[in-house]
Amino acid sequence: MYKILICDGLDESGLQILRSAEGVEVDMPEGLGAEQIKAVLPGYDALIVRSRTTVTADMIEGAGRLKVIGRAGTGVDNIDVEASGARGILVMNTPGANAMAAAEHTLAMMLALARHLPQATESMRRGLWEKKKFLGTELYQQTLGIVGLGKIGSIVAERALALKMRVLACDPHIGPEAAKKAGVEYVCLDDLLAGSDFITLHTPLSDETRHLINRDTLAGTKAGVRIINCARGGLIDEEALGEFLASGRVAGAALDVFEKEPPEGSPLLAMPNVIFTPHLGASSRQAQENVSIAIASQILDFLQRGLIRNAVNFPSLSLKDYERLKPYLLLAERLGRLQGQLCRPVLELRITYGGVDLLDVPTAPLTQSVVKGLLDPILAEKVNLINAQVLLKQRHIELTASSTSHSRGYTGEITVTALGPGKMQFTATGAVFFGREIRLVSLNDYMLEAELEGVNLIIQNLDKPGTIGHIGSTLGAFDVNIADMHLARSRAEERAIAIIRLDREAPGEALEALRSHGNIISVRQVKL
Ligand code: NAD
Ligand code: MLT
Repeated sequence: MYKILICDGLDESGLQILRSAEGVEVDMPEGLGAEQIKAVLPGYDALIVRSRTTVTADMIEGAGRLKVIGRAGTGVDNIDVEASGARGILVMNTPGANAMAAAEHTLAMMLALARHLPQATESMRRGLWEKKKFLGTELYQQTLGIVGLGKIGSIVAERALALKMRVLACDPHIGPEAAKKAGVEYVCLDDLLAGSDFITLHTPLSDETRHLINRDTLAGTKAGVRIINCARGGLIDEEALGEFLASGRVAGAALDVFEKEPPEGSPLLAMPNVIFTPHLGASSRQAQENVSIAIASQILDFLQRGLIRNAVNFPSLSLKDYERLKPYLLLAERLGRLQGQLCRPVLELRITYGGVDLLDVPTAPLTQSVVKGLLDPILAEKVNLINAQVLLKQRHIELTASSTSHSRGYTGEITVTALGPGKMQFTATGAVFFGREIRLVSLNDYMLEAELEGVNLIIQNLDKPGTIGHIGSTLGAFDVNIADMHLARSRAEERAIAIIRLDREAPGEALEALRSHGNIISVRQVKL
């Protein structure tokens, strides 16, 4: 039974999906505080929040059962993503699901700001008729500067162009080509500030974007500029904005988001040239339905099928890629597990992906799977695909992964080389047969076709008669049944290798007895 805790409410559409899912129990208590969430969280597999709840490292500290945190919305700045990743907890959001709502809200704010709609409404409520006071500005032929040309910024751009505005965009993470395609002029931040009559912000809140609008950048704006923020509060230094609004240098601002929400006591609230909404960007019926359905299905897909979508701390896979990669994820994990037992300690891992099956698919999840397989049996803490890389770094194990179109003839193959101290090195290649069976096809220079599962003995021996008989009779003497056996030899070195799958683990004495024969070079027991 999977237990899901929903903290900030969720539209009925997604709730229905969760409640009707088999083996899933949903709790949606109202108004839980941080301490209360922390106290109950150890009993849950998944947590779903919107923007009210801040998920801190402290809150998830004791939540050993928690596998995933879902954000029904875009911004994950209310979730400690790093702490979640380190604890192996997946964090996912619903990008784009509320983009239209946020973009339309931005346009509504821009129009309302240009024509003083909230102030005029307020004035009329007070019985006044102040036609002269509310002289506005048209948007036609005015310049709009968009900071952040992502999903929302692009929708705003398209609609602003329809209003016949000139549109400038600044986004250092996309090239000028993307801006050209969107029909906007690609400029640097300074040029955008200097050339815009309206500026609208559409970036995430990050170390790079915090207080992007500050005293310095405001000093670079055109006199009489109007600023709209429907992205994140921390993007604007509110104190600095207040000063520029007070002096009239900034003609007006439209704010949906605030450094502190609600912005109790903020001097901006008293300024006549600022209009506000209480973080309503995503508050459309359609957006709430979209994010609710999206997060509910993503959480279920992850809990029930291991399918990862829209994760912010793990590479996402489309359903198509996931189906293609599924057997390879298992293969990768088993190869990692094998190497963790052959090469001790592992100081470096080199992974190569080959064959047509693994071309044009994201291989990062495969790499994480190798690492998970390697570390899982070694570490006491829970290792999963999300924290695997963090733990690898902590152990100073070097990792390189590359892809090649070349293969030994398999449609897809993964080669994992583990390097240990001195000359210790093991190279294992695995492939997928018939789209589902995973096999070890070579170990060092030996060509094999061994199933990668269960308890196996890996025995290296001199290629001389009598060795296999010794292995069989020794295991028999200890009542250990052989399930399967694969042999390979190197004529040049006059050596051979045997991979023997056992029905149960062989006791230490049996391994010693195997090693006692003069033809045996090494015996290792690995559990896959
Ligand atoms: P997105 O990831 O699609 O786009 C963000 C864009 O910002 C990207 O193109 C990125 O390259 C760009 N960017 C990053 N750093 C930048 C920088 N220093 N300068 C310029 N550009 C930079 O995100 P989105 O879905 O468009 O969301 C944008 C923002 O809107 C986010 O902060 C999100 O949380 C917020 N949001 C708010 C509401 C609301 O209710 N008010 C609703 C939805 C989204
Ligand atoms: C978001 O990032 O999705 C928005 O801020 C909307 C919300 O939090 O409700």
